[in-house]
Amino acid sequence: MHATAFASRFHALDAFLTEHQHLWRPRPFVALQLPWEADHPALAAWLRARSLADAEAVHNAPHTLDGPEPFATLARRSDELSQVGECLDVPQDYPPRRQDVDVPGRKWQQIDAFGRKLAFTRPVQRWVDWCAGKGHLARQLAGPERPALCLEWDAALVQVGEQLSRRAGLPVQHRQVDVLQPLAAVALDAQDTPVALHACGDLHTRLLQVTVACGCQQLALAPCCYDRIVEPVYRPLSHAAATTALRLEREDLRLALCETVTGGQRVRRDRDLSMARRLGFDLLQRELSGRDAYLNTPSLPSHWLRQPFAAFGAELARRKGVTLPAGIDWPHWEHRGFQRLAEVRNLELVRGLFRRPLELWLVLDQALFLQERGYQVQLGTFCPPSLTPRNLLLTAEKRAPY
Ligand SMILES: C[S@@+](CC[C@H](N)C(=O)[O-])C[C@H]1O[C@@H](n2cnc3c(N)ncnc32)[C@H](O)[C@@H]1O
Repeated sequence: MHATAFASRFHALDAFLTEHQHLWRPRPFVALQLPWEADHPALAAWLRARSLADAEAVHNAPHTLDGPEPFATLARRSDELSQVGECLDVPQDYPPRRQDVDVPGRKWQQIDAFGRKLAFTRPVQRWVDWCAGKGHLARQLAGPERPALCLEWDAALVQVGEQLSRRAGLPVQHRQVDVLQPLAAVALDAQDTPVALHACGDLHTRLLQVTVACGCQQLALAPCCYDRIVEPVYRPLSHAAATTALRLEREDLRLALCETVTGGQRVRRDRDLSMARRLGFDLLQRELSGRDAYLNTPSLPSHWLRQPFAAFGAELARRKGVTLPAGIDWPHWEHRGFQRLAEVRNLELVRGLFRRPLELWLVLDQALFLQERGYQVQLGTFCPPSLTPRNLLLTAEKRAPY
């Protein structure tokens, strides 16, 4: 996306999200009936009649579903507003380093794709891999003339990272540091080029602030887990976002993340069973208590899924202090849980139309923040969503002073 379009796209997204809050804020998992269903009965009935498999088929691309109005109009608008170009591959001046022995397949492909998109005008003096984990990205980018520093707070990851870097004979240092602590601990300078692949919520916000405060000339960031923030409400970074009326609570930010996990059959079956059972238990507890109110239950460790629903439900009841009478028809409630899961997943497709727009709104807030502070910013995708749905990449370079 061209930098001149950031502000106008941001405002268009903001208007779309603000106007349709009543469609994306209520969560079907929690509410048996959504307030918007009364206004759009044909759409609600159509979605409720679809199967779980129908919902699954379009979960990650809800805008492709040809649903009754207002779905079709919203889907078109969502698609228009979500358009982002691909970042171009940059010719590499060193042969690609293959670390696929040490890095799980998909992660390796993400790192490789991320590395190929970085084209800064000024030569890199030192890479700083922000929240580096084991430092796979740093090792991909570092070379004899281009050392790297990894910042990571998990001591075990730092230790493994050090071993891997030593074994690879690369000038990569690993520092155990909490990047949320005061600036001195982080110690970047203007010559550093911070990079972050999938730094969560507060960690990517902090990166942007540190980059600006330290006067770093260039930066690359692929954000993720927007909801990992300490404060209950999102604090906008840019002037544009600070002056809109849209207020985003932590729970709202989760919407930006809720694609289906790209796991195998078994992972999906377990996830569905777990959700259907929690929904079935929720229906049961509503009936027992006589109160039509959602009860938040934890997702139990997977060995509970191998137990019959009677045991699973008894465990949820124990954890939530719900007294169960004798003679519960557990197969009935499990069946109802699956029926409700199909409805929930289909009704969620409406919220799904706002997922990418919300994510773009958040990333454009970051892009505008950097622009307001004198950076030239580019935004694009660095890999297809099948590799990771968190595929937006922001790169920024400080404009030369006139
Ligand atoms: C989603 S992982 C990404 C890791 C790596 N960049 C990658 O793509 O594989 C986020 C990393 O941030 C680290 N982290 C979390 N909080 C941190 C903090 N306050 N300071 C430094 N690192 C932190 C975690 O331990 C984890 O390794």
